[in-house]
Amino acid sequence: MANLQTKYLGLNLRNPIIVGSCGLTNTIEELKEMEKFGAGAIVLKSLFEEEIEIELKKQMAEMVSTSNNVYPEIYDMFDLATVEDTLTKYLSLIETAKKELSIPIIPSINCISATEWTFFAKKMQDAGADAIELNVFLMPCEFDRTTKDSEQIYFDIVHKVKKEVTIPVSLKMSYYFSNLGGMLQRVSESGVDGLVLFNRFFAPDFDINNFRVIPASLYSNAQDLSISLRWIAIMAERVKCDLAASTGVHNGKSVIKQILAGADAVQIASILYKNGISYIATMIEEMEEWMTEMDYESLSEFRGKMSQAKSINPAVYERAQFMKHFSQKF
Ligand SMILES: Cc1cc2nc3c(=O)[nH]c(=O)nc-3n(C[C@H](O)[C@H](O)[C@H](O)COP(=O)(O)O)c2cc1C
Repeated sequence: MANLQTKYLGLNLRNPIIVGSCGLTNTIEELKEMEKFGAGAIVLKSLFEEEIEIELKKQMAEMVSTSNNVYPEIYDMFDLATVEDTLTKYLSLIETAKKELSIPIIPSINCISATEWTFFAKKMQDAGADAIELNVFLMPCEFDRTTKDSEQIYFDIVHKVKKEVTIPVSLKMSYYFSNLGGMLQRVSESGVDGLVLFNRFFAPDFDINNFRVIPASLYSNAQDLSISLRWIAIMAERVKCDLAASTGVHNGKSVIKQILAGADAVQIASILYKNGISYIATMIEEMEEWMTEMDYESLSEFRGKMSQAKSINPAVYERAQFMKHFSQKF
């Protein structure tokens, strides 16, 4: 029987299939279903840093209205547990999940700055979180901002959150960097415990009959795997932290591909919207079948076997043009 166990962010997972942060990882009922059908771990639906800061400002305003002396120490006095709001609900989802499930639970924060919100990471740890995922993204549309300034934000966020908590911290990133490999490598050396490559964002489409901007497809398709597959393979032996592959992982075979590329785990979201939560079990079966067929007993026997570093033709991972596509075989 194939053993699918893996280690990600220092956590022991029974298999590498992590349910990624999405609208399905928002209720205890669905989390339980995910565990029942075999998920290795779950990343909760993200909180936005703005949600944390709004709450912070609300409480600040209340304190200012009742006191003339407001010191920075007031952050320590917040008793979030007594406030019926988004943050309290989020913390209680972590607590309940930790009581009722045995797989690792990873809360997530969407953030764009290293400001006051970072205190909340400690609250998540105290609620029982096994790790924290930071989903950082700045759309490169502020043309006056230098590359250095944009990139520094990622390091500042990791640094500040790592100071707040002792549990592992992962960073979910995009591929919108001019020197993507260099950036991933430097971030991996910043003390972060894992990188999630890559996030998939809201994208605009046009309704040409009504001249309106509408959302493009919310869900990925199986072909979207190739971007993260390329970059997991390129980065696999060049980073100082774990790697989780995200986007376009739609079946057991694509999990195998990402492990061959060098991933420690994968994250899935779209496919569960399309096929239902029970599909996790099908993906696990597909992995087991392939491993049995190939005579592999554990993931470590083939992890990274197809990374760029191990390839006899490393240039193929960097090929960008189709010019020779019809005349030359890989
Ligand atoms: C409906 C929906 C909601 C999502 N919400 C979040 C979120 O709150 N935080 C986050 O980091 N990613 C979020 N994602 C992105 C997914 O976690 C994942 O990175 C992305 O969908 C690519 O993986 P996939 O191809 O398996 O869907 C969401 C995705 C979907 C489809």
